[in-house]
Amino acid sequence: MIGTLVFVLAFLAIGLSVVLAAMRSGRPPAGSKTETRATRRAWGVGLGVVIVLLGIAVPAVVLITNGDDHASQGIGGVELTSAQTNGRALFAKNCATCHSLAGSGAVGRVGPDLDTLNGGDLKPAFVLDAIQNGRARGNGQMPADLLFGNEAKDVAEYVSTVAGR
Ligand code: HEC
Repeated sequence: MIGTLVFVLAFLAIGLSVVLAAMRSGRPPAGSKTETRATRRAWGVGLGVVIVLLGIAVPAVVLITNGDDHASQGIGGVELTSAQTNGRALFAKNCATCHSLAGSGAVGRVGPDLDTLNGGDLKPAFVLDAIQNGRARGNGQMPADLLFGNEAKDVAEYVSTVAGR
């Protein structure tokens, strides 16, 4: 981010020096008749360059300051690790159809609401166990092994972090 800013500023500096050079070289010997016209042209060129540079610099700065990645921001100001961010994507794909979870904007009604289940206090191991073994205790069916390995772990971490928030 700082690097990009330096890069943009460097370009601005180069542009400005080009403008100054253009203005200086455009100035004929003092008192000559062409002075005003040359000066005016230099100004025109300079202004054009500045406008073009601003056209690049302003959007660039906005993009940089705006490009601050919000993907890791979970509900309630929770910062998600990259594993948990991955878990959120997997949850949307594999769990949201059946479960409600405010952190994912999920409103599934087949399985229990994960925000209120156990008061929202879901340990990763508990969620992982549900994913690995499935659940069928008379409250509907949750198939086992919807996800495996790290994917299952990431989802468990994610759910455990945001449930009840
Ligand atoms: C096809 C619908 C369905 C999908 C998809 C689904 N679940 Fe479930 N889930 C259920 C149902 C139904 C239950 C309750 C089963 C019961 O208690 O009999 C449940 C229960 C749970 C429980 C509580 C377990 C317990 O012991 O109380 C957790 C945690 C859970 N699911 C997490 C997940 C996660 C994470 C995913 C995504 C990987 C997921 N579920 C995908 C239907 C689903």
